[in-house]
Amino acid sequence: MVRPMSSSFGTADLETRIRALDVQSALPGVGLLRSWVLEALAVRPGERAVDVGSGTGSHAGELASVGAQAIGVEPDGGMRVTGAGRQPGVAFVGGSAYALPFADGSVDVVTCERVFQHLDSPSVAAAEIARVLRAGEWRSRTPTGRRRSCTPATRTWSARSAP
Ligand SMILES: C[S@@+](CC[C@H](N)C(=O)[O-])C[C@H]1O[C@@H](n2cnc3c(N)ncnc32)[C@H](O)[C@@H]1O
Repeated sequence: MVRPMSSSFGTADLETRIRALDVQSALPGVGLLRSWVLEALAVRPGERAVDVGSGTGSHAGELASVGAQAIGVEPDGGMRVTGAGRQPGVAFVGGSAYALPFADGSVDVVTCERVFQHLDSPSVAAAEIARVLRAGEWRSRTPTGRRRSCTPATRTWSARSAP
């Protein structure tokens, strides 16, 4: 069975979860992680860039800020509503990492920031990400692999189609 999320994060009330995301987003380690991702992916203006498990969209907003057509995929409706209010440059859609609401080969860049550690079936999500990326060579990065000081709680997965 593919469950949506395995940690206690998913069971706290919306306000508490949003507060937790805000605290995490302000952490230097998370900022560093995000800057690695943006540098590694070199997202270009106009590219279709999807952030899976976008929460309130603080990372998706960074994709929008470089001119990408940013889309946040988030199963939690409350998160999406809050995100839409905070990040006008991001289109939020309901969905899951296990069944992304995009056609095969229709996305240039995918990020999945601090979500994989919550998934019971990460390989299913990885296959979905590979499915929606445009055909061709694609690269994946796990920035935390570069620094031992990062904890598993900050695991990020990101990929793009060939530049
Ligand atoms: C730690 S937060 C990610 C924070 C987000 N990247 C940001 O910029 O603030 C984990 C997110 O994954 C979402 N999530 C949980 N299960 C999911 C699934 N199966 N597919 C996609 N997202 C999921 C949660 O609702 C939550 O918003």
